[in-house]
Amino acid sequence: MIAGLADLQTVRFSEEGDGVVILDQTQLPEREVYVTLRTAEEIWEAIYRLKVRGAPAIGIAAAYGLSVCAEQITATEKGIFAQKLREVARYLSGSRPTAVNLSAALDRMLSVLDVHPDSTCEAWKKMLRHEATKIREEDAMACRMIGERMLDRLRPGMGILTHCNAGHLAVSELGTALSPIYLGQERGYGFRVYADETRPLLQGARLTAYELRKAGVDVTLICDNMAASLMRKGCVDAVIVGCDRVAANGDVANKIGTFGLAILAHHFGIPFYVLGPTSTIDMSCPTGEAIVIEERAAEEVTEMWYAHRMAPEGISVYNPAFDVTPHELITAVITEKGAFYEKIISESFANPETISNFAAQFEDINN
Ligand code: MRU
Repeated sequence: MIAGLADLQTVRFSEEGDGVVILDQTQLPEREVYVTLRTAEEIWEAIYRLKVRGAPAIGIAAAYGLSVCAEQITATEKGIFAQKLREVARYLSGSRPTAVNLSAALDRMLSVLDVHPDSTCEAWKKMLRHEATKIREEDAMACRMIGERMLDRLRPGMGILTHCNAGHLAVSELGTALSPIYLGQERGYGFRVYADETRPLLQGARLTAYELRKAGVDVTLICDNMAASLMRKGCVDAVIVGCDRVAANGDVANKIGTFGLAILAHHFGIPFYVLGPTSTIDMSCPTGEAIVIEERAAEEVTEMWYAHRMAPEGISVYNPAFDVTPHELITAVITEKGAFYEKIISESFANPETISNFAAQFEDINN
């Protein structure tokens, strides 16, 4: 574990095993407060309010949550047990729509029942706990591999701009976009990192700046609208971001503002990398057009974090939580299994054959 991060645990089971303990990220950077979630409603609320957030972390929290809720089902009749479990999974998956990791983790948990149809409800409960733990462990391994693969493409002393928080707090351990930075830190790469503050919920200022500083990384905070001038000064050698859903054609949904950064990077000829586990690639989603973008409350823009309201009462507000970056602007999507979309990045994605070739390549790698 990277020095400074060892005491930050995004999601874990409570010692008694009857709850999910999360680090309440809405209280950072002021306080490190852990809360225990014991009911489906508490887990839903924690995900919706971003107490736990980041695509892989919400998948893990939901899987842990489903396991905790499964323990509370008293039915011994398997049909009733399965029906109740599916109801909880459906409810949890409605908490946030954009990150595929949430529904994918819940589907994976439910598949335990289909794979072991002859087991008892008590055996299912044990298997569900095991599956949730496996989801977290696999994510930790994926994050490390993503970091190693990206680090191979970086040189010591580079300036790296990142957006939102795709770090240790957003996953099981290390992060996706921040993983190469942490591994580079251990190996003396001396990166200069610029963290976009990430309006409106300030994940960059509150979380990325916080965790990088804790780990001793050289990090400078900027407002989102300062990226262009920073790039023009030649301070940015690469932009590295995470992802919430990658469509089959390589379009990427990530935190609102990512698309704008990709356009800027393209303008300045700066490589733009998207880092995420293969579990974030959604082959059932043909293009970015099909990704559901979460829209959030107006108050996040008009008053949250301010001492008093900063916009006129009744003003119309547009507050999408994510945007879609078209594949043409992305240098490569780096996963634990390698780089995707890289070789074909300049080919015409209007050609359906290219997409189906990619689908075959993806299947191969996953089998
Ligand atoms: O709304 P958030 O804070 O959950 O958004 C998080 C992001 O957009 C991250 O970049 C993404 O989930 C990747 S986290 C490894």
